[in-house]
This record gives sequence, C-alpha cells and structure tokens, in this order.
Amino acid sequence: MLYSEKVLDHFSNPRNVGEIEDADGVGEIGNAKCGDIMKMYLKIDNNTITDAKFKTFGCGAAVATSSMATELIKGKSIDDALKLTNEAVVEALDGLPAVKIHCSVLAEQAVRAALSDYYTKQGIDPVPIVGEIKEPEE
Ligand code: FES
Repeated sequence: MLYSEKVLDHFSNPRNVGEIEDADGVGEIGNAKCGDIMKMYLKIDNNTITDAKFKTFGCGAAVATSSMATELIKGKSIDDALKLTNEAVVEALDGLPAVKIHCSVLAEQAVRAALSDYYTKQGIDPVPIVGEIKEPEE
C-alpha cells in the first residue's frame, strides 16, 4: 500500500476544514509546480493556538498533511507551533511516499505564514520570529 491508514483517514475525513471568520492569523501558500494551494486560519489567545482551520485546494497528501498539521498545533503555544516541521507531520501520519514529501512542506509553511500574519497584525516584524516564508519549489 502506497499510503498509510492514517494518511487515507485524514484524506477522506479531514479534521478542521473550513475558515475562521475572525481569525487572528491567516496564511496562504502555494506550490507553483503542482499548482496546489493551502490556506490556514488561526485563532490565538494568550500565545496559545485555540483554534486552527484550513482549506486546501490540492492533492490528497496536501489535504492529509494540512489536516494533521492543524491537529498538531491546536492547543499548543506559538513557540511549539513554530517548531512544527514537515517531518513531524509526516511522522504523525506514519509516513508519506518520497514523491509526496513536498506536500507536507506546504502544511509546515502554511502554519508559519499564518503566524507571520498574526505578528504583522500586532505591528511586530515577523521575520526574526518566524523567518522567511518559502514557497516550496519541488
Ligand atoms: Fe502539490 Fe501535493 S502534489 S501539494
């Protein structure tokens, strides 16, 4: 089987799909090569991510990784969310085929883009905290 049970589960039954209307941070990231787009909405209270939702127009692995990423950051501090790597998302999904690893980078960067937007809205320069947001190139 190419995909793990967890990937199939998060693809067919994605968690936290949708928008947060009064989101504190919104990030959108795309992959120019495959054309897939991911949008991440965060609600942040007292440095804690109290809610996360996403919309992904993309492949199955992009849907599954964004679903898992929202599950992993909900209830966590911003610091913990900033430590979320695409490898951690892949691991939580029990792996992804090598050709699909780049899809998980989209999930990692979408979280960072939303946090970046959060800091910008607070009048804080996000770059020293969040770093540059990179559109995946693969
Ligand atoms: Fe584009 Fe998966 S193929 S994100």
